[in-house]
Amino acid sequence: MCGIVGYVGNRGSLDVLVGGLKRLEYRGYDSAGVAVIDPEGRLGTRKHAGKLGVLTDDLGATPLADGHTGIGHTRWATHGGPTDENAHPHLGDDGRLALIHNGIIENFGELKDELAAAGHTFSSETDSEVAALLVGDAYRATGDLTQAMLQVVNRLEGAFTLLAVHAEQPGVVVGARRNSPLVIGLGEGENFLGSDVAAFVAYTRRAMEIGQDQLVTIRPDSVEIVDFGGAPVDASTFEVDWDASAAEKGGWSSFMAKEISEEPEAVAKTIIGRVDDGLVRIPELDGLDEGFLSTIDRVVVIACGTAAYAGMVGKYAIEQWARVPVDVELAHEFRYREPVLGPNTLVVSISQSGETMDTLMAVKYARKEGAKTLSICNTQGATIPRESDAVVYTHAGPEVAVASTKAFVAQITAMYLFGIQLGQVRGTLDDARARELVRELQAVPDKLATVLATGDRIRELARWMADTQSVLFLGRHVGYPVALEGALKLKELAYIHAEGFAAGELKHGPIALIEPGQVVFVIVPSPRDTNSLHAKVVSNIQEIRARGARVIAIAEAGDAAVLPHADEVIRIPLASPFFEPLLAVVPLHIFGMELAAAKGLDVDQPRNLAKSVTVE
Ligand code: AGP
Repeated sequence: MCGIVGYVGNRGSLDVLVGGLKRLEYRGYDSAGVAVIDPEGRLGTRKHAGKLGVLTDDLGATPLADGHTGIGHTRWATHGGPTDENAHPHLGDDGRLALIHNGIIENFGELKDELAAAGHTFSSETDSEVAALLVGDAYRATGDLTQAMLQVVNRLEGAFTLLAVHAEQPGVVVGARRNSPLVIGLGEGENFLGSDVAAFVAYTRRAMEIGQDQLVTIRPDSVEIVDFGGAPVDASTFEVDWDASAAEKGGWSSFMAKEISEEPEAVAKTIIGRVDDGLVRIPELDGLDEGFLSTIDRVVVIACGTAAYAGMVGKYAIEQWARVPVDVELAHEFRYREPVLGPNTLVVSISQSGETMDTLMAVKYARKEGAKTLSICNTQGATIPRESDAVVYTHAGPEVAVASTKAFVAQITAMYLFGIQLGQVRGTLDDARARELVRELQAVPDKLATVLATGDRIRELARWMADTQSVLFLGRHVGYPVALEGALKLKELAYIHAEGFAAGELKHGPIALIEPGQVVFVIVPSPRDTNSLHAKVVSNIQEIRARGARVIAIAEAGDAAVLPHADEVIRIPLASPFFEPLLAVVPLHIFGMELAAAKGLDVDQPRNLAKSVTVE
């Protein structure tokens, strides 16, 4: 949600702050603001409700004195609506301190009462202003911004990333995090802070992680990290594996169009470095010693939204290949039902952003209950990987569009790699079968490229259906989660009612929805399957066609059985049943995007949504 940027160095900080906030726009927000300390030691701030353009227009019309120390923020409203007053930064110490905040301070009410009793007045409805006033008071008492922040963070409950600057300490930005994202960008004679690496990747790709309950003080030539007890902490650095251009649209009409085109590469890059002599060897799983892998008696996948559907696809494969029971749970439901977890349970979280609060809190619960945790994540240095025993990064590159596409296929790829290695370790996959699966997986990127070529026909379909009010999606086995994903894309992009069903469920109720003209996408299993699901799904198509449905079938090249029954057939290349989801989902991603575009909607930043939901 909120975007956070901090800078100290020799550049004009305003350009760095605004440029960083622009690259963080995808996180979703409804107000923006900056604070800068100018060379005379004066603190200037500017903030506005609305998109970043409102702020930059104002800065253009009424320039703010620039300097070399500053913080910037884009806010997604939680406490208090998206107004100029509620926008960040908030001030303390009579306007000499500025602070920005991401997250929710759960005990802000009692702290606000304490401040009011001490004579403070408030200019906003936010919990963040309470933090600004507290740090300002602590600065007055300590004369040091780091010590002031340290005092205050130990009084806060909830989730927060805080950055602060003080007019009396130009060249210093102090940041602190708990259950909320913050990473450090390491430059030459300059340093950066950001809610993710996109904030500073234009200037440096050297980054450093900040752990839970840690506080960082950056100066142009130093970075000091301490825990909330004040003890120095060592932190690991990493190299960001994409550059600023990757985070730009690169000539595409939208980030989503660019990212769909990158789906083949996302799969290929997620495989690289994880196959050795034809077998799967995921180096990062060393974080879970091999002895543990062979003792796993249950896998629980926790995730939200699209990531959960990737987990559902993975479930079928892991159970088939490793013969281990796999449960897929929505993270926000998991924690509150007090699930039974054991020492041989592996909890696998799937998250593109690595900051989804629902998933993060579920991971923390699982660890507290003694389960081992594995993170499948697309964002290096994110919070969820840092809270897990091991992490398998998907290498899909930055996914900027709010609707997840390339991350989805990369997440399935990572789940498949894990399932194959687990099968190898447990002996349920012999080498020959494992190598065969690996070859199938390695062939997917080329097949994805073939599917992408069907985009023009799908665009025509979408334009023809621009006034559609309801679309259903049917799938079976690994096609069922694909149906759910196709429906979610239509909801979040085209704002129309869409629902995914297990095809076998049709006769148990949903078929009552079928009326003349009802559009139904059907993901058709391979006719080469051995469990007759293909025949069953073709029967489903006949049943709904008989009731007037308009059927768009996604079917394997050469599958003739669907032709007489579907109004439209979108072909995908031949692939073994388990690999079909990686191919069948692409037309649904394209369709969702094209229908939104045909309706003139914002494909990259749909209404009400944020790229990373960092509040519960
Ligand atoms: C997907 O298109 C949605 N934007 C949403 O469901 C997303 O998948 C979900 O919020 C999980 O996000 P994460 O992968 O970053 O944890």
